[in-house]
Amino acid sequence: MQNITSTLKKLFYLWKRSQVPIKQPIKISKVDNLIIFLICILISIISSYKLLLISPLNISNIFSWLLTFTEAYVSSWILILVSKKENPTISSRQIILIVTLLLAVQALKLVLASNISPLSLIIPPALIISQGMGSITALVWVSIASISWPEPEVAVNSNLFFILLVCASVVSLLGGRIRNRAQLLQLSIFVPIGSFLSQWILIGKDKIFLVDKQEFVFANGDLFSDSLLLAIVLLFTILFIPIFESIFGLLTKARLLELADKEKPLIRRLSLEAPGTFEHTLLICGLAEEATRMIGGDIDLIKTGALYHDVGKLHAPNWFIENQDGTNNPHDEIDDPIRSAEVLQAHVDEGLKYARKNRLPKQIANFIPEHQGTLKMGYFFHKAKEKKIKINENDFRYNGPVPQSKETAILMLADGCEAALRAMNIMASDQEALETISKIIYSRQKDGQLNDSNLSRGEIFLIKRAFLNVWKRIRHRRIQYPTSKNNTFS
Ligand SMILES: [Fe+2]
Ligand SMILES: [Fe+2]
Repeated sequence: MQNITSTLKKLFYLWKRSQVPIKQPIKISKVDNLIIFLICILISIISSYKLLLISPLNISNIFSWLLTFTEAYVSSWILILVSKKENPTISSRQIILIVTLLLAVQALKLVLASNISPLSLIIPPALIISQGMGSITALVWVSIASISWPEPEVAVNSNLFFILLVCASVVSLLGGRIRNRAQLLQLSIFVPIGSFLSQWILIGKDKIFLVDKQEFVFANGDLFSDSLLLAIVLLFTILFIPIFESIFGLLTKARLLELADKEKPLIRRLSLEAPGTFEHTLLICGLAEEATRMIGGDIDLIKTGALYHDVGKLHAPNWFIENQDGTNNPHDEIDDPIRSAEVLQAHVDEGLKYARKNRLPKQIANFIPEHQGTLKMGYFFHKAKEKKIKINENDFRYNGPVPQSKETAILMLADGCEAALRAMNIMASDQEALETISKIIYSRQKDGQLNDSNLSRGEIFLIKRAFLNVWKRIRHRRIQYPTSKNNTFS
């Protein structure tokens, strides 16, 4: 009997799972795939062709060429796979940027390796990648760029290789976390100073120890001028990062914080034309931020995404309950549940239009459809049923897709809990609040809305706790403080 029940449960789960759109893989057009493939082939050719120029050419040379070629080709694809894993929403333009930077560095090594320190060649691109694509992608990029040298005669001294790896790793790790341009400037000054001191200590002034086989790194043997060059290249890279952001759609922490500025025209419009939605947005920001912090997600991403998730309501603010003053409700006036459902769906479609018009990055625009997922517009669905209108349940569901990341899933849950927590009695106990939160989250789970979000059970537990903490704060704020007789505050 127990077996039958569990089989039925499994079948029910599979049926439910089939009712929501499956996780969309990143769409890369055939042309982009071809471009990426050609760049990877070019990287492999540049990294290995010198081995074929060795004379006399023998079988072992051809074999080592083949090995180097394959190694470079496989490494490029590993880099692409890692970047896709770290950034599930990565675009083909961004993949092209990563491999093009690798191609450029391999080509520059051929031309400049004997004149310029490898630090100046490898660290600046690592900064761009860590800022736009994250630390892990940058670390993999650094490993490939540091190990693969197209010139067979050149082998970097192990001390210099060590310094290169440490400096590039520091830039990769910090670059992914830096939250403003001032910190970037500090990085571009302190890394060259650090590299100068470490080279001074580990290698010393004697340039002979910098290379193993030929004079390779410092043509003039001047550690200071090379560190200065690194600082200058890094400063120029920082200047060009905003250009990379707009051309390749990179979403750096600094850009996220700029977008989260409440003085941005779209957010200002929201606060003036749809004040109720703006208030709802601010409360959701608090809920989502706390939950994301609990599970170790991207706080800056969710804060900015939450700010823009309902901008589509600007197309008809008074059709949404939070902006109504309780006197007239347009939904009651039209008395047409199907039309009402269309207006609700329009807040997603119009939101996406606003996102395009305001050039919001894709990762932020994703919050607009995914916070609603394929949720049922229950109120209007039941109204239609009451009126005995012939309906299809799908007409009363948002178009989706369901949340594709942990952050958009948290926003969906925060969106669901916000109104309930706001409406909750001030005297309600923690247990009652937790039960309400759990009920809302469970209904989303049961409906298959969290299936593609990768949220684990443990993380959902933490999210519930985080929402409860925010509720406690709201309750604390709403409790009136006792005042003294002469009404003074201290
Ligand atoms: Fe919404
Ligand atoms: Fe919302």
